Amino acid sequence: MRLYIKELREEKGLTQKELADLCHVSFQTISKWENGINYPDITHIPRLSDIFGVSADVILGLVPFENKDERKRYDEVDFWADKRDVVKVWKNLYWNDDYFNFFIKDVLGFRKAVKVLDYGCGYGFLGMKMLPVLPKGSSYTGIELDSVQIEEAEGYFSKTEYAYRFICEDMYEYEPDEKYDLVVALFLISYLPEPEKLIRKMKASLKPGGMILLMDANMEVEQAGFYSGVESQDEGMRRPDMIPLWEYEYEQKERDYRMATKIPYMLKQEGFTGLQARISDQVVIYEPSDPKKKKLGEMLRFVYSKEDFVNEGAEYFLKRGYSRQQAEDMTAYFKRMHEYLDSKQSIAVKTSGVYFVYGRLK
Ligand SMILES: C[S@@+](CC[C@H](N)C(=O)[O-])C[C@H]1O[C@@H](n2cnc3c(N)ncnc32)[C@H](O)[C@@H]1O
Repeated sequence: MRLYIKELREEKGLTQKELADLCHVSFQTISKWENGINYPDITHIPRLSDIFGVSADVILGLVPFENKDERKRYDEVDFWADKRDVVKVWKNLYWNDDYFNFFIKDVLGFRKAVKVLDYGCGYGFLGMKMLPVLPKGSSYTGIELDSVQIEEAEGYFSKTEYAYRFICEDMYEYEPDEKYDLVVALFLISYLPEPEKLIRKMKASLKPGGMILLMDANMEVEQAGFYSGVESQDEGMRRPDMIPLWEYEYEQKERDYRMATKIPYMLKQEGFTGLQARISDQVVIYEPSDPKKKKLGEMLRFVYSKEDFVNEGAEYFLKRGYSRQQAEDMTAYFKRMHEYLDSKQSIAVKTSGVYFVYGRLK
């Protein structure tokens, strides 16, 4: 058996001593692991996987070293830094003002001013949408680690009359100096390897009787119902199975593609009561002449081709748990999809279905 500890350590630029300190073992132990004299105890594997940012399979030599894939860190700000525009563009696919306004005004129906705290607030989008429909005198606080987005948010809100505050800090380090009536997060929890940590943080920021609201997706629901309307729909445009990719990400502790469906259960575990979940009802329809269809093409290109899918082609999927045939089918599908979305053909229909899950602190 051949472990890849030496290669991974060198790639990370760590000395044997530095790695030893991180693993709480002696550097002689590291040397023995690297030279195959001894093997690490199984309890060291998760830590090694965390340090190197690769799956246990790579450390154990179960996949060829050259085929290794970096574990995606969806929960780190660096991951989002080059996707600031994408996060905005995505909203065209899932955000529905009508539903949101109805939800805030008629479903939640606050009668008095509320103090809102938004975790991972980005450029303050939720505040922009919420404050106009909350009772007068309500205030919005956003917490976000990316200073570029905070600056943008400040720029927007400073021109309004609303009461707002932005805190540029790691949400895990943040200790709230006051308590809030409503604590929210939009498209954050499904990206976290330890979602319970966020729920506990949110809980600690709430007043007794306060409300938690998480808006997020179940990717099977979100991505269902794409219909392109081209004649070859049945063969050419039927999307190959995405589940192996999502399961791979789930197993690597990158993200949980079914997160939205699990939130009510997680809230119950944390003692929230009066649990409810709704689904935003938007189905997006693009006609051939609609400039939005082109926009959809651009969005999908962001998602599927920008850095990974098309540049690396089948290699990307091979590294992420697919067989050669599945990987080639997947790449061919995305290529056809791009061609179609760039063309003037027919109509495209896409489900969104964002879950709004909420409950109260006792
Ligand atoms: C998918 S984006 C959603 C942004 C915003 N809620 C929206 O929908 O427009 C996730 C955001 O969480 C932020 N984030 C991730 N980890 C964070 C952390 N530890 N502390 C604060 N913000 C974090 C990222 O910088 C990013 O802006």
